[in-house]
Amino acid sequence: MTEQPRSSDRLKNELLEIALEAATQAGSFLRDARPEDLGVAATKSSAIDVVTEMDIAAEKLITGLISDRRPDDGLLGEEGASVEGSSGVEWVIDPIDGTVNYLYGLPSWAISIAARMDGETLVGVVHAPMRGEIFRAVLGEGAFVNDRAARVRPASELGLALVSTGFGYLAERKAQQAEVARLLIPEVRDIRRGGSAAIDLCDVAAGRLDAYYERGLNPWDYAAGDLIAREAGALTGGRPGEPLSPALTVAATPGLFAQLQARLDELGAWHD
Ligand code: IPD
Ligand code: CA
Repeated sequence: MTEQPRSSDRLKNELLEIALEAATQAGSFLRDARPEDLGVAATKSSAIDVVTEMDIAAEKLITGLISDRRPDDGLLGEEGASVEGSSGVEWVIDPIDGTVNYLYGLPSWAISIAARMDGETLVGVVHAPMRGEIFRAVLGEGAFVNDRAARVRPASELGLALVSTGFGYLAERKAQQAEVARLLIPEVRDIRRGGSAAIDLCDVAAGRLDAYYERGLNPWDYAAGDLIAREAGALTGGRPGEPLSPALTVAATPGLFAQLQARLDELGAWHD
């Protein structure tokens, strides 16, 4: 007799199917409906309005699909979705992570969708349409990029680490973040600034980066990528001994994590 899947497995599978469907639909919409001259028009505020409209439309598409399938779930989205819900499941959604890349026609932007329960992320999907990649993870079941298992790189030392980071939108915060990067760069192999926190976390998962850190993210930037990175073998957190949070997000291969986290703490990566 075949064993019946446990109800928590059934729930996780259902959430994964919904996240994949929503991310794929939003990805096709954002790719196909993006005006070709958007990059050229990027200096005009009208171009930014187009991106805002696309952002809002993509979030509506995602939340509409989710509410249709699971009307009692909570919703939290970058573009304002905020529904309490009664089922205990909450969806955390960034319809376009890497908005500036999207505006300029650079390929590194993604749809990020996570489902969590009692503060624990059960499922994460990050879809980067222009890279042809869907990253996904289910708690306890590993991470995948398309059909391949995702796995972090082997341990490296800080001096050999390729580290990605990001900068916020406010000038004062950017200045402090630049100062931290200035002090860190002589101590690592190099620094990257990809422009999408969700993709950065997935690139750590896929072994394309040794580490990623950033101050000032929102839950929709990191919820899905955090689970994908951890399921691929990365460690993630905030300041030493603290979980990752908007104050600081750090993800790295296990051999590097504590060292980088301690160094970022010394450098003040957690404050403006
Ligand atoms: C941004 C991206 C970027 C990071 C910023 C985020 P958005 O999200 O993830 O890489 O550096 O902190 O705000 O605005 O493109 O959704
Ligand atoms: Ca974002």
